[in-house]
Amino acid sequence: MRFENKVAIVTGGGQGIGKAVAQGLASEGASVVISDINKEAAGKTAEEIEDSCQTKTFAVETDVKKKEAIHNLVALAEKEFGRIDILFNSAGICKRIDIEDISEEEWDEMIDINMRGVFLCSQAVMSIMKRQQQGRILNMASLAGKVGGIAVGAHYSASKAGVICLTKSFARNLGPYGITVNALAPGPVDTAMIQDWPSDVREDMARQAPLGRIAMTEDVAEPALFLLSDAAKHITGEILDINGGILMD
Ligand SMILES: NC(=O)c1ccc[n+]([C@@H]2O[C@H](COP(=O)([O-])OP(=O)(O)OC[C@H]3O[C@@H](n4cnc5c(N)ncnc54)[C@H](O)[C@@H]3O)[C@@H](O)[C@H]2O)c1
Repeated sequence: MRFENKVAIVTGGGQGIGKAVAQGLASEGASVVISDINKEAAGKTAEEIEDSCQTKTFAVETDVKKKEAIHNLVALAEKEFGRIDILFNSAGICKRIDIEDISEEEWDEMIDINMRGVFLCSQAVMSIMKRQQQGRILNMASLAGKVGGIAVGAHYSASKAGVICLTKSFARNLGPYGITVNALAPGPVDTAMIQDWPSDVREDMARQAPLGRIAMTEDVAEPALFLLSDAAKHITGEILDINGGILMD
């Protein structure tokens, strides 16, 4: 039980990668706060976890665009459990759109959720983790944040490049307090986020991978759990590729 007595907040925990990581944390002993803008999905994840794991779990409707909502989330978690050991920033949106068609509003929304949301959530837990002299923050970056938007919009890839840099900045600032900050940079992962991608685009991405397929959520969840565990205590500022070999750097 790698996460016994640990308390985790998972943003975007209602579905997809966030849900898979929340389930993994809870199955190994963590108390998990499921946060999502989708109240129903967050509640369902929390219910499923409570039914299958012997840990305390609850859901909080949170829009990561809103600082007040994030502070409410962190306050509720701290009030209930008295500490916060893990923050997994998974909330995000993605859009396939040509670079010349991205409107100002779409740019702002993408950056607000994917990048500013990670900044605000990490900032909101840092004083608690500093006080504890211990903590783990893990962010969802993307292959697109390293190579630019090909299958996805330029605003998405820019937001994820921002997440990569924020990860390193938080890692540098929080290292002296025993807090690690890392990110995952997956290629395409088979979740709702890419379900409307044309099949030829998905097949092309699979063909580009030496391992010959796109990722499933468990391909991402397992490395996430490793980086959140005590075994990864000397890893910080790492941006971990999970792309079947599409990019090797
Ligand atoms: N699926 C992929 O191919 C892929 C690849 C690389 C990185 N990622 C990243 O992984 C993360 C999880 O993606 P996923 O594949 O699980 O997608 P998903 O769409 O299945 O899940 C995203 C979750 O984020 C929530 N969310 C959206 N906007 C929010 C907001 N403003 N506030 C709070 N919650 C919000 C959604 O309700 C949803 O539950 C995202 O950051 C995504 O960019 C995904």
